[in-house]
Amino acid sequence: MMLRADAGIEMFSDSNIHAVAELAKACFTTPWSEDIYRRELDNPQSVGFVCMIGGEAAGFIHCNFVLDELTLNTLCVAEKYRRQGIARALWAAVTEMMQGVCSVCYLEVRESNLPARTLYESLGFTQNGYRPRYYSQPDEAAVLMICNL
Ligand SMILES: CC(C)(COP(=O)(O)OP(=O)(O)OC[C@H]1O[C@@H](n2cnc3c(N)ncnc32)[C@H](O)[C@@H]1OP(=O)(O)O)[C@@H](O)C(=O)NCCC(=O)NCCS
Repeated sequence: MMLRADAGIEMFSDSNIHAVAELAKACFTTPWSEDIYRRELDNPQSVGFVCMIGGEAAGFIHCNFVLDELTLNTLCVAEKYRRQGIARALWAAVTEMMQGVCSVCYLEVRESNLPARTLYESLGFTQNGYRPRYYSQPDEAAVLMICNL
């Protein structure tokens, strides 16, 4: 699916990190604070992209990496912009940037989060673990997934 013409994918920066934190608040019960996202701007082991539409953050992805291992921490898209290929495009931006740097990506996802699990499977992730009671608010198991890049 082509990304809509008014959408722009940008790396995290001083000018968009506030919008990123606001979107995290809208999407998650226990979001990272704006301070934490801001500190990631100075972290050389961090990679983040945001999809901007009309001056607001429509979606973002944030990963960390150590050696050749990438961890996908957060991927979210504002409700009104879902099912338009934005998550897929954000993932493509990360994999393009990490080409030749990382060979594998790990993530954890709430067991009940079928939209995300379906997305990750469609991106090539497979389940490689399960952690009961990993999440709080509400308590829930994590499904661990892995993808070769
Ligand atoms: C999961 C999430 C990031 C998907 O974002 P999105 O931009 O809507 O995803 P895309 O449009 O790129 O979808 C790509 C594919 O993912 C799968 N998918 C996405 N949403 C889905 C849903 N609600 N049900 C089933 N499959 C879904 C489909 O395979 C889809 O391809 P298709 O539209 O061609 O069928 C979004 O629903 C979201 O932000 N959820 C809340 C936050 C969250 O749970 N994040 C993940 C945990 S960190």
